[in-house]
Amino acid sequence: MSQRTKIAELLQSTEFGKEITVKGWVRTFRNNQFIAINDGSCLGNIQAVVELNTMDEALLKRLTTGASVAVSGLLIESLGKGQKVELKVKTLEILGDCDAEKFPLQPKKHSLDFLREKAHLRFRTSTFSAVFKVRHVLAFGIHKFFNERGFVYMHTPIITASDAEGAGEMFKVTTLPFDSTPRDEEGKVDFREDFFGRATNLTVSGQLEAELGAMAFSEVYTFGPTFRAENSNTARHAAEFWMIEPEVAFNDLNDNMQLAEDMLKYVIRYALEQCPDELEFLKTRLLEEEKQKPQEERSELDLLAKLHFCLDNEFQRLSYTEAIDILRNSNHNKKKKFKYLIEGWGADLQSEHERYLVEKHFKKPVILTDYPKDIKAFYMRQNEDGKTVRAMDILFPGIGEIVGGSQREERLSFLEKRMEEMHIPLDELYWYLDTRRFGTVPHAGFGLGFERLIMFVTGMGNIRDVIPFPRTPKNAEF
Ligand code: 4AD
Ligand code: MG
Repeated sequence: MSQRTKIAELLQSTEFGKEITVKGWVRTFRNNQFIAINDGSCLGNIQAVVELNTMDEALLKRLTTGASVAVSGLLIESLGKGQKVELKVKTLEILGDCDAEKFPLQPKKHSLDFLREKAHLRFRTSTFSAVFKVRHVLAFGIHKFFNERGFVYMHTPIITASDAEGAGEMFKVTTLPFDSTPRDEEGKVDFREDFFGRATNLTVSGQLEAELGAMAFSEVYTFGPTFRAENSNTARHAAEFWMIEPEVAFNDLNDNMQLAEDMLKYVIRYALEQCPDELEFLKTRLLEEEKQKPQEERSELDLLAKLHFCLDNEFQRLSYTEAIDILRNSNHNKKKKFKYLIEGWGADLQSEHERYLVEKHFKKPVILTDYPKDIKAFYMRQNEDGKTVRAMDILFPGIGEIVGGSQREERLSFLEKRMEEMHIPLDELYWYLDTRRFGTVPHAGFGLGFERLIMFVTGMGNIRDVIPFPRTPKNAEF
C-alpha cells in the first residue's frame, strides 16, 4: 500500500483497468457509495466508487468528511457527469478517523470569517487550496523572473538595529526581563545588558541592506518576511507580511518603473499559465460573492478578465502633482464624496484617492511618481525643484498601493543633509553612508507587498485570507 498515485496525475490518466492506490482526505461520501477524495495535488477530487453491499457497513460509517483514507482499486472510465475517470474500490483503509460531530468543516459553504477562526484546517477547503497554490506559484514565479534576469537573491537580516523607513512602528526584540529592566545612569533602559548589547527590532524592510548588495552585484533582490507594528486594522494591512525588494545599480526611476511593470506582468502571466483550474474556481467564487453586493459595487470585469486586462495594458504613469490636479477637479471632490477632501498640494494620498484614480479615472494600474519629499522616506533622490523626490507608488484596482519604491539619493552631501533635517542619526547609519563614500552610483529599487499581489491575483478581499496564519492587531493565533 505504500505506492500512491497522486490525484492530479490520475485525473489525467487513461490507463483504464490499471490497479492503483490513492491516499487522501474524504471531502464527501454520498449514497453510501461515492467517496470524493482529495490529496491536495490539485483542486479536483477523485471519485472512488464502492460497490453496494460489498463492504463492511461499520467501515463505511467511518467515511466522514475529513477522515484520511487509503483506497486501492481499478481505474475506470466514469459514466457520471463532472469527471472522466473514477476508482472502483477493491480495498479501503481508514488511516485516521474524523469525528463528524466535532470536525468544524462540513460539506457545505462556510463563511470566510468562520474559516479564519479555523485557519489550521482551512487548507482543506477548495477556496484555500486554490489560494495557497496560487501563493506558491507566485513565489516561485518571482524567483524565476529574477533568476532569469541574473539577479542575486539576498537574505537580509530579520533582526536589525536600524529602522529602514525612519517611521517607527517596529516590534522590539529583547531578552531583557520586564519586571526588573536594567537602567542606566539616566534611568533609561540599559540595552548594553540586552542580548545584542543594543536595542534591536524586527525588520520593516530589507532595502538598506539590499542597497549594500547592489553596490557589488549590481542586481539583487530580497524576498522575506517584514514586520510592522502599525495599529491599522484594515483588510490590506498585516503586522507580518512578505516583501520582495529588488535593488539595481545604474537604474534610474524610469528603469525602476519598467522593472516593476515587467515583473508584475510576468508573475501574473505565470499564475495564469500554472493555475488555470484554481483561477477559474476563484473567478466563480468571486462572482458568487459579488452577487451579495449592490450592483454599483460589483466589478465590471471578472477575475480572469481583470488579470488579462492588466497584462494587455501599459500602466498609466503620472506625477503626484498631476494626480492632485485630477483629484482636486474631480466631481467626487467637488461633491465632497471623499472623506478627506483634496484641498492642496502636499497632502498624502489616502486609499480612497488612490482607488479613485485607478478604479474610476484611469481604470487601469497607475504609477504615481515624484511625491512631495515631506511625505516620503529620507533615502529618496531629491529633484531639482527642491520639493519633490524620485518616488514611485504602483496602485492596483481593488488593492490600492501594491508597490512602493524610488530612485535612491546617491549623492553623499544631499543624503546627509536630508537625514539631518529628518533627525536620523548619521553615525548609526555610517555603513549605509559608506556606499555613498566608496564608489557611489545612481541606483533604484522598490518593494512589492507579496500578500497584496496575491489578493489581486486571487480576488480575495482580505489580507487575512491570503497568508496562512495572519498576524494582525490582537491576533496571533496558531
Ligand atoms: O511602501 P513601503 O513601506 O516601502 C518600503 O518598505 C521600501 N523600503 C520598499 C523599497 O523601496 N525597497 O512597502 C512596500 C510595499 C507596499 O507597497 C505594500 O504593498 C506592502 O509593502 N506593505 C504591506 N503589506 C501588507 N501589510 C502591511 N502592513 C504593509 N505595509 C506595506
Ligand atoms: Mg509605501
